[in-house]
Amino acid sequence: MRELKKHIGENNLTYFIETYGCQMNSHESEKIAGVLESLGYLPAGDKNKANLLMYNTCCIRQHAEAKLNSNIGALKDYKNSVKGAVIAVCGCMMQQEGAAKKLMNRFPFVDMAFGTNAIHRLGQMLSAVLLDGKRAVATDEDETIIEGIPVKRAKKAGAYVNIIYGCDNFCSYCVVPYVRGRERSRNVNDILAEINQLCGKGITEITLLGQNVNSYSDGTKDGGAFARLIRRIDKETDIKRVRFMTSHPKDMSADLIECFGGVQSLCEHIHLPVQSGSSRVLSAMNRGYSRERYLDLLYRLKERVPYLAVTTDIIVGFPGETDEDFELTLSLVKEARFDAAYTFAYSPRKMTKAAAMQNQLSNRVKSERLEVLNKLIKDIMRQKNNEYLGKTVEVLADSVSKRSYNEISGRTRTAKTVNITGTKEDIGKYINVTVDKVMAHTLKGIRA
Ligand code: 5AD
Ligand code: SF4
Repeated sequence: MRELKKHIGENNLTYFIETYGCQMNSHESEKIAGVLESLGYLPAGDKNKANLLMYNTCCIRQHAEAKLNSNIGALKDYKNSVKGAVIAVCGCMMQQEGAAKKLMNRFPFVDMAFGTNAIHRLGQMLSAVLLDGKRAVATDEDETIIEGIPVKRAKKAGAYVNIIYGCDNFCSYCVVPYVRGRERSRNVNDILAEINQLCGKGITEITLLGQNVNSYSDGTKDGGAFARLIRRIDKETDIKRVRFMTSHPKDMSADLIECFGGVQSLCEHIHLPVQSGSSRVLSAMNRGYSRERYLDLLYRLKERVPYLAVTTDIIVGFPGETDEDFELTLSLVKEARFDAAYTFAYSPRKMTKAAAMQNQLSNRVKSERLEVLNKLIKDIMRQKNNEYLGKTVEVLADSVSKRSYNEISGRTRTAKTVNITGTKEDIGKYINVTVDKVMAHTLKGIRA
């Protein structure tokens, strides 16, 4: 490894990572950046001049693959113009059976392909490519949790902390259990140690990450491990704000519901994917709850914290979804009054049960339904944001606006994005803001 570091350092090699997909992927890119910098790589200012170009892929929906292929196809010029350019493709998509091989065959100028369990082997792979002139592939099935991978955090204000990897739920539309493997939880002491270390560096907000955080297990079988973890984080670390993502409605324990409004550091926001408002569709999706149970859950959560912000994921056009089923989704959205919703047209994924279902809907129906749903959600979001007008909220400043150098943006405990005047010196600070303007997606305010 010393030789590799020498090579990278002497040549001032730079890297650029393009990330697709969810927070899990963003955090994995932070780990990749951490490993690369520990090897001597520097971040590249310009993607087209980076010596190492990394694509961290997502495979949750089909169009990602087409997009990746066209992006990679366009890299021939880059490969020719940058001396010793290395192209790497990693992430979920590479965990799909045969995908890495197919990609390497199709694009002879791709140097490396690796999956989500191989980040710690990046040094070895780069050695093979840079020092031995080989191509490297690592998409093994080893699901051991590797601790201690260096992380280069993208944000100063909020940090991601993995607590569980993989997913055992097998929702009938979802490819994640096939690519990310079985559920495995991190040891509670490793999690607490990481959070304490982050606190030591001045980080005050964390998001606990997992495909299904409420399946977090500490070895006991009582289903209460996740709530216990939240309480321990509150007691045993100085972290000021805790969020988590993503939780599954079927696994929300009474104890976890009690954490809202009961555990001081736990923010008043939950991302709780509903996927559909029709119990019949939910059953075909293998979600393990009905429309009524979901709404009851929301009721119980809001009983604890009336102003709790709830965001969700919704799929339209699942196989066999009728107009009536879709109407039920619309009526659920009206009843739940979500603060935000990520909406998707159903996309058939290889290996999943839903992809083999006979009654697939046309793209036209899917996009029509998506449009109707998005309009409704936007209206509700605006109404919900209006409730903030004139209120004073605590905002954790986390980034400088892309539009203007003297505007910053931050988040409330309820995960609302608020823009205010400020500079990069404000990042990481808590600022009280009175909201004076409301858009569908963001709020604007002045310092209180
Ligand atoms: N098609 C469309 N959306 C999907 N999601 C997962 N799989 C699919 C699919 N095959 C959505 C779900 C999930 C979010 C991360 O992505 O809503 O909650
Ligand atoms: Fe996919 Fe369902 Fe697991 Fe979420 S809970 S990752 S939607 S299988």
